[in-house]
Amino acid sequence: MKINNRIANLPQYHFNEIDILKDKLKKQGREVIDIGIGDPDLEPPKEVNETLIEALSYKGYHNYPKGNGIAKLKQAIIKDYKLNYGVDLTEDEVLITIGSKEALSNIIPTVCDINDYIILPDPSYPSYESCSKLWGTIPYKMPLIEERGYFPNLKLIPEKIKKVSKLIIINYPNNPTGANLKKDFLEEVKEMCEKYNIVLCNDGAYKEIVNKKEDKLSILMGGINNCIEFSSFSKAFSMTGYRIGYVVGDKNIIKSLGEVKNNIDSGQFMPIQYSALRAIKDCKYYIEYINEVYRKRKVLAESILDEKNIKYFKGEGTFYIWCKVPKGYNTDEFCSELLLKKGIVVTPGSAFGRLGYGYFRIALTKDEEIIRNTLNRLDSYSKN
Ligand SMILES: Cc1ncc(COP(=O)(O)O)c(C=O)c1O
Repeated sequence: MKINNRIANLPQYHFNEIDILKDKLKKQGREVIDIGIGDPDLEPPKEVNETLIEALSYKGYHNYPKGNGIAKLKQAIIKDYKLNYGVDLTEDEVLITIGSKEALSNIIPTVCDINDYIILPDPSYPSYESCSKLWGTIPYKMPLIEERGYFPNLKLIPEKIKKVSKLIIINYPNNPTGANLKKDFLEEVKEMCEKYNIVLCNDGAYKEIVNKKEDKLSILMGGINNCIEFSSFSKAFSMTGYRIGYVVGDKNIIKSLGEVKNNIDSGQFMPIQYSALRAIKDCKYYIEYINEVYRKRKVLAESILDEKNIKYFKGEGTFYIWCKVPKGYNTDEFCSELLLKKGIVVTPGSAFGRLGYGYFRIALTKDEEIIRNTLNRLDSYSKN
């Protein structure tokens, strides 16, 4: 069969491999506990499903959605950006997506031609590189390292790469490290993008999940020109399966992204858009609630990791903990040993790129009792 050559060059989607292995162990009667994947255990706010059901009786609910999102939802997002970040937006600067994963794929043909360069972080959410390769563009990886708090050193990006790149994707609050956006980096990256005419895109899928409310920042603060930001209902309202998110920013980019989408997906089912509207309008309490839940889980997990001598980065956002593989192991050995000997799934850092070697990621998407029981089963490792 003849298929796209680029598919052969894609890295395996790690979570599919893990699911296969987990199923195999479960069939052998083994107990497996997954603290690797970022899919919240918490239920969405109850209002979301009330509205979802109610919206099934709205006139035309079953038709193709129009206008890249319902106007009321766009208006609620506009209000939210004003309230949280002091950013003024208009409806043509907002677009509703089928989650941020859809947005991060469709932004590539929106901005780039085949063989254009895209600047991406390493380590990072694996879909950035996969989508870049699928759309025939060339990823340039900028290292995120602990010594710099997981911010890239923009000065190290070669001049010729800056000149030929059309798009840079950053991701704060950051998966997998938990680092959050800082004002000085925001200013520096904007300056670079302006100078080299690069579209700046922040994947803000976790932007509501921060240790402190005051830490909430948007890439659109201080100017929207040539910038866009993705957001999602997936993590903020535990709605991963509903598949809904949004993109806000420069209206020329939004318009072109809308054109790409009109040719690919025709938008999200309208009752789901109404349920997202209910979430953003009436369920602000929920964001405070989950941040408190994740904060307590983080304190608990960090204290057990300390007891076990496992080093980790103290991030200010997301529900992940980015941990160092104990001395004497390589990443794959360590993660396989955890799974095969203890039945514990964590995500090996290598799933996020070359610079993820030497690390593994824990997701705080299980309740405190499970986190306590699971992490207490880890061995104690030597201090260095
Ligand atoms: C950094 C990052 N971006 C995007 C996504 C996709 O999220 P969504 O459910 O909004 O498509 C994820 C999911 O885990 C993620 O970690």
